[in-house]
Amino acid sequence: MRFLAFALLGCQLVLPTFAQDDNNKNAIYQLSNDTEFAFVLETVLALSNGGGASTGEVLRAASQIVPGDFESWYKEFMYLGDGIHAKASSINASRFPVSAREAYFRSSSYYRVAPFFLHGNQSDSRINRVGARSVSDFKKAAALLSLPPINLNLPASSPNVPGGKFSVPARFFKAQHGKTKVPTVIIGTGYDGSQEDIYHEIGIEVLARGWNVITYEGPGQPTVLREQKIGFIPDWWNVISPIVDYLETRGDVDLDRVALVGISFGGQLAPLAATREHRLKAVLAIDGMNDLYGHFKAEMPESLTDLYDKGQYEKFDEGFFSVEASGATYSRWAIAQSLFSFNTTSPSEWWGRLPDFTLNSTMLKSISCPVFIGEGENDSSAPGQPEFMAKAIGKKATYNLFKNDLGAGEHCQLGAEFQLAQVTLDWLGDTWDHVSLPRNLTNVVY
Ligand SMILES: *[C@@H]1O[C@H](CO)[C@@H](O)[C@H](O)[C@H]1NC(C)=O
Ligand SMILES: *[C@@H]1O[C@H](CO)[C@@H](O)[C@H](O)[C@H]1NC(C)=O
Ligand SMILES: *[C@@H]1O[C@H](CO)[C@@H](O)[C@H](O)[C@H]1NC(C)=O
Ligand SMILES: *[C@@H]1O[C@H](CO)[C@@H](O)[C@H](O)[C@H]1NC(C)=O
Ligand SMILES: *[C@@H]1O[C@H](CO)[C@@H](O)[C@H](O)[C@H]1NC(C)=O
Ligand SMILES: *[C@@H]1O[C@H](CO)[C@@H](O)[C@H](O)[C@H]1NC(C)=O
Ligand SMILES: *[C@@H]1O[C@H](CO)[C@@H](O)[C@H](O)[C@H]1NC(C)=O
Repeated sequence: MRFLAFALLGCQLVLPTFAQDDNNKNAIYQLSNDTEFAFVLETVLALSNGGGASTGEVLRAASQIVPGDFESWYKEFMYLGDGIHAKASSINASRFPVSAREAYFRSSSYYRVAPFFLHGNQSDSRINRVGARSVSDFKKAAALLSLPPINLNLPASSPNVPGGKFSVPARFFKAQHGKTKVPTVIIGTGYDGSQEDIYHEIGIEVLARGWNVITYEGPGQPTVLREQKIGFIPDWWNVISPIVDYLETRGDVDLDRVALVGISFGGQLAPLAATREHRLKAVLAIDGMNDLYGHFKAEMPESLTDLYDKGQYEKFDEGFFSVEASGATYSRWAIAQSLFSFNTTSPSEWWGRLPDFTLNSTMLKSISCPVFIGEGENDSSAPGQPEFMAKAIGKKATYNLFKNDLGAGEHCQLGAEFQLAQVTLDWLGDTWDHVSLPRNLTNVVY
């Protein structure tokens, strides 16, 4: 999602500050005095645009959450999750499927966000318990759609996983119409999101345009962490290829119009996959980033990164843990989340694995399809990286700056989902019209 940046004062590690603080002061109305809480509250509020939350419910929780207090955050979202879940389960879903569906979608979101700040203690049993409840409510809601999705667990393999095998949880949402082949969009999240979030964020927008959607999670992402205990792996093509294999088995997928969308850190993972998976016909990086490691490194005090470079791993770890213990909410969260999502308790192990994800210009040039690269005007997660990617990819790249004055300048255009969909999906339509294959979208309902 957003990444840590430490203030450098002399050579001493001082209380960390980070770019997102500035974003939050400039961008959207603040729902908490704690800038990190304000940002994550924005992510929840934004789900309202796609039926994953309700504005009044989120604003009420926001008014009760004590800035900086992780337990308060958990308590208020559990209160909301339990309350809406109770409503959902009291509804006779065969008589009132729409009411039950809407409520389960929202309780799922509130359960999902409740343990967001608990990852500092990886053995906190609430993480898995509430996470599983969130997915269960999402599945109940989705089963009540007029065309329920197919829940999948696709077999995958990677040399970076012990035993070499894992599986990719995914959900295929079929376009609402017809039996013919239609464009299909694969959507994946980033450092801390879920496939349930992205259904509300952009999945429904794709479905509204008459195309198929498949959401997924890979290693490092919630269901895979919870059920398989596998952290992020750099060979992301080994996550995507099994999805494309699956699409090839279906009769309703136009294989000449398959796109991969990556949200947040997914904006690095998606192009990474496309360097080796050449069956993709478009890639969208929301927003573009190629080097999470380089960004961290530039923002961190040399006194700290030097320790790693000199092999003083214990001291490096101590530095991180002291920041986690005393830092601002964002740094506490970011360190906890980094370790959690890499399935480690060692900062130096995490740091040592990060460079493997970096995309250099040679790798970017090896992507064979058109690439959309987004950037939010007020998103400072990876400054300069969207531009670098666009330049390295060259003619096949389309760069788009989402503007702050119309409310789309946030990281991943949070809260401006309709602008995000309009720009990205219209781009896909244009891109695919130019594919030199017969066009047959006559039965697509827009
Ligand atoms: C937020 O900060 C302002 C100014 O410091 C203060 O007046 C207000 O009470 C704070 N609100 C909360 C919810 O802490
Ligand atoms: C729910 O509604 C269906 C259809 O009207 C009915 O058959 C069923 O008995 C109801 N279930 C409950 C628990 O009331
Ligand atoms: C972490 O969570 C576990 C399980 O809930 C608990 O037993 C343990 O005391 C917690 N550790 C810390 C440091 O809070
Ligand atoms: C993830 O961490 C847990 C706890 O340390 C460990 O049991 C598990 O084997 C790790 N998973 C992988 C894929 O290394
Ligand atoms: C880019 O990365 C690849 C893969 O790690 C490596 O083989 C290549 O030498 C790098 N190219 C440049 C220009 O750094
Ligand atoms: C946010 O965007 C506005 C322009 O709309 C700019 O003036 C401001 O400096 C930006 N802030 C950040 C933190 O990027
Ligand atoms: C487009 O698809 C429809 C429905 O399958 C079919 O009837 C029609 O002949 C196709 N048109 C073209 C130009 O291929």
